[in-house]
Amino acid sequence: MKKGEKGILIGIAVSAVLFWGVNGYRMAQEEGEDKGIPFYTTASVELQNKGSELYKRLACRDCHALWGVRNPMQSVPAPSLDGMGSLRSEAWLYEYFSAEDPQAILPSRLKKKYQMPSFAYLSEEDRKVLAAYVASLKVEDWYLEEAKKSAFEKLTGEEYKSDDSEK
Ligand code: HEC
Repeated sequence: MKKGEKGILIGIAVSAVLFWGVNGYRMAQEEGEDKGIPFYTTASVELQNKGSELYKRLACRDCHALWGVRNPMQSVPAPSLDGMGSLRSEAWLYEYFSAEDPQAILPSRLKKKYQMPSFAYLSEEDRKVLAAYVASLKVEDWYLEEAKKSAFEKLTGEEYKSDDSEK
């Protein structure tokens, strides 16, 4: 390759990187203005892969929503898992997934076939991954009340009253 050609190629590569960089920055700023999506995960890429593999394989999505995506065929009023990590601790989730009778920890108002199934049969490793993954699903503070309200109403079927009005 001639020296000149090399220079041109490097020039193209540098402008492409600059273009993407600036565009990405602009998009991030625009998202900040209208607050954007309140849900995010703190999981490493490895945990995200393992966690979402289990989420699919164990058919959690038959009943729950994640990233705003709900199975259109499902009609179970199970709480959304978006932001669950801001409502429950990893230790609580591990215990819940390990329970032979999850309803002893969290009572259900639903018919047996719609209730949260026991995942006690999974390996300890899988239950740890599930707990860590769900615990990583966080919600921004400005949307926390909304996430609590939605979970409460799904769990109880009753209207949510914020902590203040209970006092
Ligand atoms: C058959 C439907 C169904 C399936 C499948 C299911 N769940 Fe659930 N889940 C529920 C229901 C309904 C509840 C609410 C408690 C109840 O009614 O038993 C619940 C509760 C939960 C909660 C606690 C919610 C809260 O507000 O504290 C978590 C966390 C959870 N499920 C995670 C999962 C994960 C992860 C999977 C897959 C490994 C899964 N669920 C599979 C129906 C389901």
